[in-house]
Amino acid sequence: SAPEPKAIRGRLLSFTAEPSGPGDTASYRLIDDGLVVVRDGRIAEVGEARSLLPGLPPGTPVDHHPHGLIVPGLIDTHIHFPQTQVIASYGAQLLEWLNKYTFVEEQRFADPDHAARNASFFLDELLRNGTTTAVVYATVHPGSVEALFAESERRGTAMIAGKVMMDRNAPPGLRDTAQSGYDESRALIGRWHGRGRQLYAVTPRFAITSTEAQLEAAGALNREFSGVYMQTHLSENLKEIETVRGLFPDARHYTDVYDRYGLLGERSLFGHCIHLEDDEVRRLSESRSVAVFCPTSNLFIGSGLFDLERLARGRDPVRVSVATDVGGGTSYSMLRTAAEGYKVLQLGGQNLPALSAFHMMTRGNALSLGLGGTIGTIEPGCFADLAVLDARATPAMAHRMETVDGDLEEELFVLMTLGDDRAVAATYVQGRRAWDRDGGMGMVGA
Ligand code: GUN
Ligand code: ZN
Repeated sequence: SAPEPKAIRGRLLSFTAEPSGPGDTASYRLIDDGLVVVRDGRIAEVGEARSLLPGLPPGTPVDHHPHGLIVPGLIDTHIHFPQTQVIASYGAQLLEWLNKYTFVEEQRFADPDHAARNASFFLDELLRNGTTTAVVYATVHPGSVEALFAESERRGTAMIAGKVMMDRNAPPGLRDTAQSGYDESRALIGRWHGRGRQLYAVTPRFAITSTEAQLEAAGALNREFSGVYMQTHLSENLKEIETVRGLFPDARHYTDVYDRYGLLGERSLFGHCIHLEDDEVRRLSESRSVAVFCPTSNLFIGSGLFDLERLARGRDPVRVSVATDVGGGTSYSMLRTAAEGYKVLQLGGQNLPALSAFHMMTRGNALSLGLGGTIGTIEPGCFADLAVLDARATPAMAHRMETVDGDLEEELFVLMTLGDDRAVAATYVQGRRAWDRDGGMGMVGA
C-alpha cells in the first residue's frame, strides 16, 4: 500500500458550525493553500501548506490539487444499493413503482454473484461522485449485505447498511419472517457491526411490508445492540399513508406505528417525512430522530415537497439530513441532490444557501449519524476521506465561473447547481486515491 505519511495539498474547506445563513463566514474554515497530512488513514495535521511542508519527512508524497476545492468526502444518508438498475424507471408513484420495478429487480439479489457485481458497481459510482460514506438499504437476502460490506471493507470506506426486513405485502421471494428477519439481522450485526469501519442499520423497509411481530423484532434488535442504527421510510406518499392507516387502525398516526415498537431515537433515520402531522413532528423531535430529505426522489416519484423550515426550525425542531435515495432518486451525485433540494425548497418559498447545502452534505450528515469528529470535517483525528471538487468542470461551469471573482459562496452555488460527477476531480478514502478523474487511474477498488 501507499507510503505514509502522505499529504494532500490544495484549497481546503471544512465546516466548524452550522451556517446561520448566507455570509456566515464564522461557520467554516477555508485555507487557500492548505495541506492535509495523513497517517494511518487519518488526518494527522491540517494547516497552511507553507507551514506544514517543511516539517514533513523527506520524500513524503504530496498530491497537489492547485485548481481543486478539497472538501470532506460527501455523505449520503439514504440509498438503495439493489436499485442501480431500477433508477430511471418510468411512470409510477410509490406503491406501483415498488411492485412494478423495485421488487422485480431486488429478487435478483438472491444470487450472490449478482450481489457482488452490483456492490462493486455501487461503490465505484459513489466514489466517482465524491461520496465516501452512505447509509444503505440492501435487500431481504443476507448475502446482499455481506456483498456490500465485503466490498466496502476492501476499499476502506465507512458504510452503514442493513438487511431489509419484509414479511408481508411483497413477493414470496422477497419475504422473510419475523423470526428469520430477526435471526439474520442479528447474525449480520455480530459479523459486521463495528468491524473496521462498517456499521449496521436494522432495516424494516416500512410499515406496509412488516407485520407487528416483525416491527417488534426490529425494536428488540435496537434495544439489544446499542450503537446500531435503524432506518425505514415514513410518510412519503399519500396512498402509502392511507394503507398504513388501514393496516394499523390503533396507531395515532404513521409515526406512532414505529414509536410503539421503540423504533424512534437518535440513531433512527426516517426517509422522506413529507406529509407529517404536528404530533408526528413533535415525537420525531422529542426522540431526536432524523428526518431524511431526498429531493430527487420526492420529485421523481411525485411524492411531495419536504418542508425544511417546519422540520428544522419549527416549534419542535427535528434533526434533518440529506440523501439521494437512488433508485427512487435520480442521481448518485450529492451535488445534484443539493440542486434539486434547492428547487424543492423554492417551491415552498424557502431557501437553501450554498453554505447550508455543503454543510449538510458533510458535517451536518455526519452529525446526523453521530459520527462528528470521525467523518464530515477536515480536522485532526478524522479519517482522510476527501473529495476534490472542480467548479470549472464543464464548459457551462467554466463560463459561469468567469463572473465569480473569488467569492466562495458563489463558487459553491455554481458547484451545487451545475455540478455532478464531472465536478469531482478526485476522491480519497483514508488518504488513498479511490477515484481520479484526470489521471487515468480508474478505480483503485475495481
Ligand atoms: N418505501 C418503501 N420502500 C421504498 C423504496 O425502496 N424507495 C422509496 N423511495 N420508498 C420506499
Ligand atoms: Zn428509500
